[in-house]
Amino acid sequence: MTTSTIAVIDLDLPGATISRHVYGHFAEHLGRCIYGGFWVGEDSPVANVRGIRSDVVEALRAISIPNLRWPGGCFADDYHWRAGVGPRESRPRMVNSHWGDVVEDNAFGTHEFMDLCELLGADPYVSGNVGSGSVAEMSEWVEYLTRADDSPMAALRRANGRERPWRVPFWGLGNEAWGCGGNLRAEQFASLARQYATYCRNHGGNLLYRIAAGANEADLHWTETLMRSFDDLAADRAGSAGPFQAVSLHYYTMAGPWSDKGDATGFSTDQWYVTMARARRMEELLTRHSTVMDRYDPHRKVGLVVDEWGTWWNVEKGTNPGFLYQQNTLRDALVAAVHFDAFHRHAERVVMANIAQTVNVLQAMILTDPDSGALVLTPTYHVFAMNTGHHDAAALAVHLRDVETRAVGATELPLVSASASVKGDTALVSLSNLDADTDRTLVLDLRGRDVVGHTARVLTAKALDAHNTPEQLDAVAPTDHAGVHPHPRGLEVELPAHSYVTVALELR
Ligand code: AHR
Repeated sequence: MTTSTIAVIDLDLPGATISRHVYGHFAEHLGRCIYGGFWVGEDSPVANVRGIRSDVVEALRAISIPNLRWPGGCFADDYHWRAGVGPRESRPRMVNSHWGDVVEDNAFGTHEFMDLCELLGADPYVSGNVGSGSVAEMSEWVEYLTRADDSPMAALRRANGRERPWRVPFWGLGNEAWGCGGNLRAEQFASLARQYATYCRNHGGNLLYRIAAGANEADLHWTETLMRSFDDLAADRAGSAGPFQAVSLHYYTMAGPWSDKGDATGFSTDQWYVTMARARRMEELLTRHSTVMDRYDPHRKVGLVVDEWGTWWNVEKGTNPGFLYQQNTLRDALVAAVHFDAFHRHAERVVMANIAQTVNVLQAMILTDPDSGALVLTPTYHVFAMNTGHHDAAALAVHLRDVETRAVGATELPLVSASASVKGDTALVSLSNLDADTDRTLVLDLRGRDVVGHTARVLTAKALDAHNTPEQLDAVAPTDHAGVHPHPRGLEVELPAHSYVTVALELR
């Protein structure tokens, strides 16, 4: 059966700018994300530049990776940056107690991370240690990275081989402070965030955008407490804002409870729908946290940064449970597409987002084979690739009519998700058919500007759990989509069951 939905888009009514930073990434010292994923060392047979994998850099440059968050996650609040600078052979070791209880040799530290960001052309987002660190330690890390003169930390950086300071735009104050980052109460953390932020100084021309560790899922009290902590500093907010400029939010999508999140492959159709319904929950979370923020910050100067999101499945059998390695299928791709639609709709408040995590961990863009070193681009990677046209474009409202829904537990899941943006004479429309079984057509009712041309891409596969492997690199890969036809209202688009489609419009 084929059913038709209408999407009305006013092409001449651009809204808020979709920051390219919502397409940000996250790399933690966890499993094979840093070691084996980004970092292979200079002596590796895998092609590398100063120890950093060249193929991974090339793949991420191709999707215009805008920023990279590091070193955690939970690891960030155990990490003492001085252990990761200086001659590699004499760096102290530590236990990575959160992730696999393995010994970390600190081969990849500050200089290696900044080198990686320079190779990627991405802005660094450094996550500072509030949980087990000190104010002085964090303050000195900022000085080490960003100060130009002969201050003690700038001199130490120079002695370690880097003459010029780096530019570091994004700075995290702790991570999940309600959990692995110290098990703090909201009130306690709000005070600490103000204190730490004060000592994370702007050196020279480097302006830090400080992001306070935010809420877990629907913990509105956490967001409210952080926002309230701005009150007596309201005078500063007229200028560059302070003490911190954003609060974060973490939300993971799974098909079951934390104790049994569901498998990455071989899942049922019911689990597909539960996953889609849970992915759609991001929209509700953004609305609710934004509403709380609006009470304190109606002009939306404080940003909401979703610096951890994505799917979290049961670990792959036979892998270290602490390494969070999981396969990535067409289902993950649709989860990503639904999240981006929500981020686009909340462009006024959501200034950055970071999928967890870039390589070999959770909802990865890239999987690398531990034995052969082969690189696989996942279905999720392809959604990032198909969406680059949304980077820094103006959001367009998409008014969906006649969308079928499906009952999933207590919620009604709309079976189509959509968003759009415009940049100059080009618009990009993103369309997801979340229906596991049914093809549908969608009419794009395009108003306000003339459409003089279009191209389209589609990402789909026969099986819901189709995925790419070293043996089959392109089992799920975008192809040109011939299913877009002229229609009296604009265009009619065929949306195969369980597919993601982008339509690029040429405007006059
Ligand atoms: O991304 C994996 C972990 O999930 C992060 O370290 C932590 O912040 C979150 O709980």
